[in-house]
Amino acid sequence: MVDQVWTAVDDYWNGHLLAPDAALDAALAANTAAGLPPIDVSAAQGKLLNLLARSIGAQRILEVGTLGGYSTIWLARALPAGGSLITCEIDKAHAEVAESNVARAGLADVVDVRVGPALDTLATLDGPFDLAFIDADKVSNTEYFQHALRLSRPGGMIIVDNVVRAGKVVDAASTEPSVVGTRRFAEAIAAEPRVDATAIQTVGAKSYDGFVLAVVK
Ligand code: SAH
Ligand code: DHB
Ligand code: MG
Repeated sequence: MVDQVWTAVDDYWNGHLLAPDAALDAALAANTAAGLPPIDVSAAQGKLLNLLARSIGAQRILEVGTLGGYSTIWLARALPAGGSLITCEIDKAHAEVAESNVARAGLADVVDVRVGPALDTLATLDGPFDLAFIDADKVSNTEYFQHALRLSRPGGMIIVDNVVRAGKVVDAASTEPSVVGTRRFAEAIAAEPRVDATAIQTVGAKSYDGFVLAVVK
């Protein structure tokens, strides 16, 4: 399901609220040139991540799923001096593109790209983190969420991307691994007393999807 008006409205509002941005444009161009899939967050979503991180005064950010570092750049820009971001990426080629994009954005000193299966990396990390953005394979979202929760400070924020997938999430009969993974995550977070959360459906340049936003008690 793709509606041209969703993209037109993103373009309209982005034209009013998002400044032209050479580093982000260059990152997307480098991703395309390297053959990365165009599954980065949209510009409006990236700005939302940036605003959320700033609104909670995030100083340490965790990301699961780097791709070419587009969302990484939006998030890392929210950090104050001395802040840091760790981002987990399984694919070495993706990580190399991301490191180059992050360096071009002037954020090489702030961003630490950890190459390997995110579950392995997460097991090595200590908190506290102020904000976690989970956006890798959807099969392991429950485990990524549990790690993020373990690593979060009280009042910390956890955002999980792609929890709607054009409505596929409500198909209880689906055998698609990402759908099964998302539904397993839904059960886990519903039963988790340590967070308050909501799920928001979105349309826009990246079609129809959505995210879960959770605050750690
Ligand atoms: N957050 C990025 C998009 C990430 S796309 C952005 O908005 O710009 C998902 C990424 O997760 C891909 O690069 C993929 O290689 C990575 N990934 C998939 N499985 C993973 C795993 N088990 N561990 C770490 N990264 C993984
Ligand atoms: C896919 C993954 C994402 O993180 C996303 O935002 C969109 C699509 C995918 O694997 O198809
Ligand atoms: Mg995503």
